Amino acid sequence: MTVPALQLEGLRKSFGKTEIIRGVDLSIGRSERHAIIGPNGAGKSTLFNLITGRFPQTSGKVRLHGHDLAGMAPFEINRRGLSRSFQITNIFSNMTVFENVRCSLLWSQGYKYSFWNMVSRSRELTEGAMEILEQINLTSRAQLPAGVLSYAEQRALEIGITIAGGADVIMLDEPTAGMSHSETDYIVELIRKVTENKTLIMVEHDMGVVFGLADYISVLVYGEIIATGRPEEVRANPKVQEAYLGAALEAEH
Ligand SMILES: Nc1ncnc2c1ncn2[C@@H]1O[C@H](COP(=O)(O)OP(=O)(O)OP(=O)(O)O)[C@@H](O)[C@H]1O
Ligand SMILES: [Mg+2]
Repeated sequence: MTVPALQLEGLRKSFGKTEIIRGVDLSIGRSERHAIIGPNGAGKSTLFNLITGRFPQTSGKVRLHGHDLAGMAPFEINRRGLSRSFQITNIFSNMTVFENVRCSLLWSQGYKYSFWNMVSRSRELTEGAMEILEQINLTSRAQLPAGVLSYAEQRALEIGITIAGGADVIMLDEPTAGMSHSETDYIVELIRKVTENKTLIMVEHDMGVVFGLADYISVLVYGEIIATGRPEEVRANPKVQEAYLGAALEAEH
């Protein structure tokens, strides 16, 4: 049996007296595209923060490729091959598009404190950054300050930054939030392309995106997963219809 990319076992998180994640078990296979959906405040971003080591869990386990991540800092988890984007755009707007990508490459390769290493490897880094820019279709924007890009381009850049270190598990928190239909279609194709043969875990409210991209869907409601399965199974699940999907699908029209 192959080891899943990510396993959550009895995961719980409380803030003060309030339990936000209330016992989550989940297994996500390698190269699977898995969407986590659910109402606002269900705990989706919190779940991301637990997986990526941003918050310590109250109890339970997170395993990446079978390794228990307990006590690891976010950068250590990142170096084990897990990379995430944030719900809110998170780029350096005064730096150029190219510099943003190169910076994340540097960081992921652990050259942060080594100036000489950085200089001697700069050609390799430049080539690596240009390759990423090509993948996210921003080659022609390379020398512009990231802040002048359109919103959709900024989100594409963010995806580039997320994949730059070569992580094989990519986590995206609402990658299409605030986009028009055409921008959304554009970003979905981009995500599909850059996550080919990688594990994708994404939080997303747009059901068109979810049903178009995900191999599996988990529905998180009030800190618990009420259903996990293939998109068609989840769509047909009466519990899911009642708790979330009925309202979410209606909101699309
Ligand atoms: N650092 C924190 N301290 C205290 N409470 C928090 C913290 N982070 C999140 N919460 C609470 O946890 C609950 C879940 O929040 P979370 O952001 O995980 O939801 P979400 O499912 O991502 O929602 P949305 O769809 O709106 O992004 C909310 O009630 C929120 O107020
Ligand atoms: Mg959220």
